[in-house]
Amino acid sequence: MAKSRVGILISGRGSNMASLVEASRAPDSGYDVVLVASDKHEAPGLAWAAEQGVPTFAMSPRGIPKPEYEAAIDAALRDAGVEAIALAGYMRLLSDDFVAKWRGRILNIHPSLLPKYKGLDTHARAIAAGDAMAGCSVHVVTEELDGGEVLGQAQVPILPGDTAETLGARVIVEEHKLYPRMLDQWLSMRR
Ligand code: GAR
Repeated sequence: MAKSRVGILISGRGSNMASLVEASRAPDSGYDVVLVASDKHEAPGLAWAAEQGVPTFAMSPRGIPKPEYEAAIDAALRDAGVEAIALAGYMRLLSDDFVAKWRGRILNIHPSLLPKYKGLDTHARAIAAGDAMAGCSVHVVTEELDGGEVLGQAQVPILPGDTAETLGARVIVEEHKLYPRMLDQWLSMRR
């Protein structure tokens, strides 16, 4: 069966993107990563993807009206034949129009146990709340920020003395395992 063509949007380090690319190389993977796109030319993840031979696209939204910026991203994704989009540390809100165009075809990974801690500073908020557990969620992207159907989660304990950094380091290990598994499962259900 033909593999699904996935485009990944990143803004920075791209460690989740790298885990998706690496998992896509397993013989039984149901997807290929055909484009890594970023809103930041200097995103370290872009250089990594290019070194790996994955096509890349970068465009800064600075000074461009949002509809024009998103039209360019949309065109790059369509030119690459992308069928589904994985957001991996893409720190920009997608417009309702963009989400509507790709309805049901965008996934995101978020570093909290949704519905808790939508938005930013998730680990600091979980620690401040005195939670026993933190984690990450893979969810379908809708117009509501971090609000679409949750497909899967991974949990880690919050330990005494944890900072946002130490907790984040524990959560990201789980992100790297959860995201490829969820993306593959979700794509296989859609075929
Ligand atoms: C990850 O922890 C991801 O869950 C988070 O940003 C980090 C990106 O790291 N995403 C969000 O907060 C989205 N709201 P990475 O660039 O190394 O994958």
